[in-house]
Amino acid sequence: MNTAASRPDSADAAAPPPSSNKRARITAITSGKGGVGKTFLSANLAAALARQGERVLVLDADLGLANLDVVLNLFPKITLHDVFTGKNTLEQAIVPAPGGFHVLLAGSGMVEYSRLTPEVRDLLVDVVAKVRPLFDRILLDTGAGISDVVLYTVSLADEVLVVTTPEPTALTDAYATIKVLATTQGRRDIRLLVNQVTRPGDGRTIRGQLQQVIDRYVTPGLESPVKLEFLGEIGTDKTVREAVTRRQLLLEAFPGCIAAQGVVAAATRLVT
Ligand SMILES: Nc1ncnc2c1ncn2[C@@H]1O[C@H](COP(=O)(O)OP(=O)(O)OP(=O)(O)O)[C@@H](O)[C@H]1O
Ligand SMILES: [Mg+2]
Repeated sequence: MNTAASRPDSADAAAPPPSSNKRARITAITSGKGGVGKTFLSANLAAALARQGERVLVLDADLGLANLDVVLNLFPKITLHDVFTGKNTLEQAIVPAPGGFHVLLAGSGMVEYSRLTPEVRDLLVDVVAKVRPLFDRILLDTGAGISDVVLYTVSLADEVLVVTTPEPTALTDAYATIKVLATTQGRRDIRLLVNQVTRPGDGRTIRGQLQQVIDRYVTPGLESPVKLEFLGEIGTDKTVREAVTRRQLLLEAFPGCIAAQGVVAAATRLVT
């Protein structure tokens, strides 16, 4: 394991022992619109899942615009790029993160992997296959949108979590993403998390509205219905910005705040 984390004091430096042939459940965290909170959520959901006893790996799958390292205040010496080029082994690139989970960071220099070439496809499949036996859960922090590289990354996951905000533009893009996932990947159960809500309850209302549009315009062309499962809502909270600015996990910087409670509740639903 790469121990180049900037905060070795708080990081669990020990490599996770392989969990006897168990294959990690892979959850892709994606969105239609950018900047809705995928990376913040990936990191904090991972911390919440780790607290619940899962061995968790977050893979920075936003290869072109990776920034999981920024959110976690990590300065990795070895990244996926080095694994892809054969300079380092996968084990060396798996970094312990604050929060008791591990990360596989894309780092800089990954722009050449932002196009889905057969080579990128093979590299991604290979990495996922190799890390799968080592963890209970893998979170794929993907880029936004429906580019082929994002969709391909999502296709490697067992389940998909779509993140949106209540903004009409984000909702339109979330709908487009869900539609594409249903029609091109056969996804029928898609989880939804509504981030940055301003009124409690808005998240569930938004799920209902999106479900109605899906029932009307997406499901009729398919053999079985597409179901949106509400994973939860997280309010717009200044503690989130503060934690990101401090480059700390929300769950560590402000564990009692409403947004942190929302993350923990979402993680619990993810497990059940
Ligand atoms: N619940 C929230 N309350 C307040 N601010 C938030 C909340 N969630 C996210 N943010 C803000 O939004 C910013 C963008 O979040 P983040 O980088 O996680 O989005 P993203 O979906 O990963 O973006 P990209 O599509 O570029 O990868 C955060 O840095 C934070 O400042
Ligand atoms: Mg991101």
